[in-house]
Amino acid sequence: MNSVKIEGLRKKYGNVNALDGLDMIVESGSVFGFLGPNGAGKTTTLRILAGLAQADSGSIFFGGQNISKSGSEQKSRLGYLPEEPAFYAWMSPREYLDYVGKIFKLEGKERRLRVDQLLEQSGLKEASKRHIGGFSRGMRQRLGIAQALMNHPSILLLDEPVSALDPAGRKEVLEMIEGLSSECTVIMSSHILADVERVCDTVGIIHNGKLITQAKKQELLDHYAIPALEITTGNGSAALMPEWKQRLEKLSGVTGVTVEGYRFHLAVKDVHAAQQEIMQDALNHNVTFEKLEVVKPSLEDIFMQLTGSQK
Ligand SMILES: Nc1ncnc2c1ncn2[C@@H]1O[C@H](COP(=O)(O)OP(=O)(O)OP(=O)(O)O)[C@@H](O)[C@H]1O
Ligand SMILES: [Mg+2]
Repeated sequence: MNSVKIEGLRKKYGNVNALDGLDMIVESGSVFGFLGPNGAGKTTTLRILAGLAQADSGSIFFGGQNISKSGSEQKSRLGYLPEEPAFYAWMSPREYLDYVGKIFKLEGKERRLRVDQLLEQSGLKEASKRHIGGFSRGMRQRLGIAQALMNHPSILLLDEPVSALDPAGRKEVLEMIEGLSSECTVIMSSHILADVERVCDTVGIIHNGKLITQAKKQELLDHYAIPALEITTGNGSAALMPEWKQRLEKLSGVTGVTVEGYRFHLAVKDVHAAQQEIMQDALNHNVTFEKLEVVKPSLEDIFMQLTGSQK
């Protein structure tokens, strides 16, 4: 059963095709990573799903039902965290959540109970009486997610929930998102593959307003994540580099070598085996280097593979 289905969604701003016939399916209960570079159309899509912007054409289905024309229906099923959530700095999170509960018309005891649950779930119970103005960005984002959960949504839209956070804040917020898959379908936009890798089970990649690919995360990683190593040789070994490159290319575990400044980038079959071969070669030929590290493909690498042929 799919939770969200988007068909041929188009949206123009002046001459800009923000969405250019987007098709996408999000399965019920999944944590869907909506990936794309700046300007790809992520926020536009989420705003249209949330009923905050109108598509020029195309259809949206929630649970098989075409909701493209019924805005109020959307509201009751959705939770939404905008890209830049705004809070009243002088309020405490309890006051803020209480205020959101009133917007959703939750009455007295039910509202207090829900606010307590959400403070607990977002890890803000201890800070429930502090002013939001003094919160870290991570705390604000957790509060933002908490407010989006107020109405027990079946679909939760999170626009770049961790992009502006430091590693500690990222971890806290990602942990909160991880725990949500049992209560709702989550669609989370990001341009950082590592974050999506950590919490999402399905990934869709959008570029220039179109979906380039959509797959289970593991399938995508298996398909595109070619293991690679990087060697930083440093200035001192510059003269040896051409010769060393030739030898590296001949190693059985190495499938390709590119050079960038004082760095070799090696595509390898097996990281561990290739590391051993390289170390042995360096020892045999008295080559010294500064660093040998395992590199993961970035979203950019995957984009290059996916979009290269379309440019
Ligand atoms: N309100 C608007 N007015 C004019 N152009 C807009 C508007 N909103 C979006 N756009 C344009 O539409 C395109 C898609 O923008 P969108 O904000 O959806 O991208 P995004 O994937 O969310 O990018 P980012 O990663 O920077 O948040 C961009 O070219 C953007 O400049
Ligand atoms: Mg955006």
